[in-house]
Amino acid sequence: MKNDNFYMLAKTMYGLEEILADELKNLGAQNIKIQNRAVSFKGDTGFMYKANLNLRTCLRVLKPIATFQAHNEKELYNKVLAINWEKHLDLDSTFATHATTHSQVFTHSKYASLLVKDGIADFFKNKYSKRPNVDPKDPDITINLHINKHTCTVSLDSSGESLHKRGYKSDTIIAPMNEVLAAGLILLSGWNEIDDFHDPMCGSGTILIEAALIAYNIPVNIFRERFGFEGWKDFDLDLFEKIKDVSLDKEKDYKGKITGGDNFQKAIRITRKNIENALMFDNIKVKNEDFFETQINKNTFVVFNPPYGERIELGINEFYEKTGDSLKNNYKDCTVWIISSDIENLKMIGLKPSRKIELMNGKLKCSFREFKIYEGSKKKKYK
Ligand SMILES: C[S@@+](CC[C@H](N)C(=O)[O-])C[C@H]1O[C@@H](n2cnc3c(N)ncnc32)[C@H](O)[C@@H]1O
Repeated sequence: MKNDNFYMLAKTMYGLEEILADELKNLGAQNIKIQNRAVSFKGDTGFMYKANLNLRTCLRVLKPIATFQAHNEKELYNKVLAINWEKHLDLDSTFATHATTHSQVFTHSKYASLLVKDGIADFFKNKYSKRPNVDPKDPDITINLHINKHTCTVSLDSSGESLHKRGYKSDTIIAPMNEVLAAGLILLSGWNEIDDFHDPMCGSGTILIEAALIAYNIPVNIFRERFGFEGWKDFDLDLFEKIKDVSLDKEKDYKGKITGGDNFQKAIRITRKNIENALMFDNIKVKNEDFFETQINKNTFVVFNPPYGERIELGINEFYEKTGDSLKNNYKDCTVWIISSDIENLKMIGLKPSRKIELMNGKLKCSFREFKIYEGSKKKKYK
């Protein structure tokens, strides 16, 4: 039954679990429980569509279909073979399998994923002497296996491609920020969605576009061409269209200004294209300008990630020191949040952070720090 609630798992990045749980609560999820890099919850099929469309800090939404214990490869294969795959796939469906393992027995995720593939293929072969095809690139159904010690969870991946692929980015500069992280930064920062917002080193524009989608309350994945659930046997297009309409009706007004800058002309060109793709051309303004030579209006809310050393003419040390000076002189009465993996260099800013949050940007451990800029707030090196 479509309107029956079932258990799901929303995966996210380290440090964004609570924000994701808040998002789920605001959307109306039930039985929300925070886990490591994930949040579990309950909802019905419509809610699963809504979650994929609206969650800003979620990488993928999984729908578990079987949980069992397996102590060796044979047992894993047999238990996958015992699942009634006809409920989920037809002979002419295509599928892909993925696995993540935290186990001393199953040490190779690729091999575990192959066992799942074999189990599914043999289920059909035993019954029909034929099997559905594997399509790793554009499958109808993506099956996910998660192994924790001996506990195996087989899930349908309702998202398909990771949800950070919003569909608005046609090009990037080097080191673009992951969209899920960018949205997470803005939600963690406590921006009131009233004050003006600025990213002075906008790169390919991720933080600006995510900020605008938040400020106007646009369903963040509305530009995606496809979600995993669209290839499922029970996909309900009418219900999905209804969920889209209802989500789009929640758009709200924002009277502030969203602006960005970058001293790299190509970055500005790319950002403009991405802004256009996100239908935000009238709502976000960007300029080719040097952070060290620009002044910003008082009370602007600022979020940015400085470069990691590429294309900086100054030494990285001096870059951060000069950043602190510019903030003090040109960002008066602004709240400024900076994320960087250069944790030692962040101290060179010489401003006392009012908040620090530990996050991961891919494999890099980062610190996300808030600086409230007042007259005379620059002191000597702070930790
Ligand atoms: C790590 S990237 C930002 C990535 C961005 N958040 C994104 O999602 O694509 C840092 C950016 O800072 C810019 N940058 C470096 N020095 C700058 C300066 N003095 N003024 C303005 N932008 C600068 C670089 O050109 C680069 O685009």
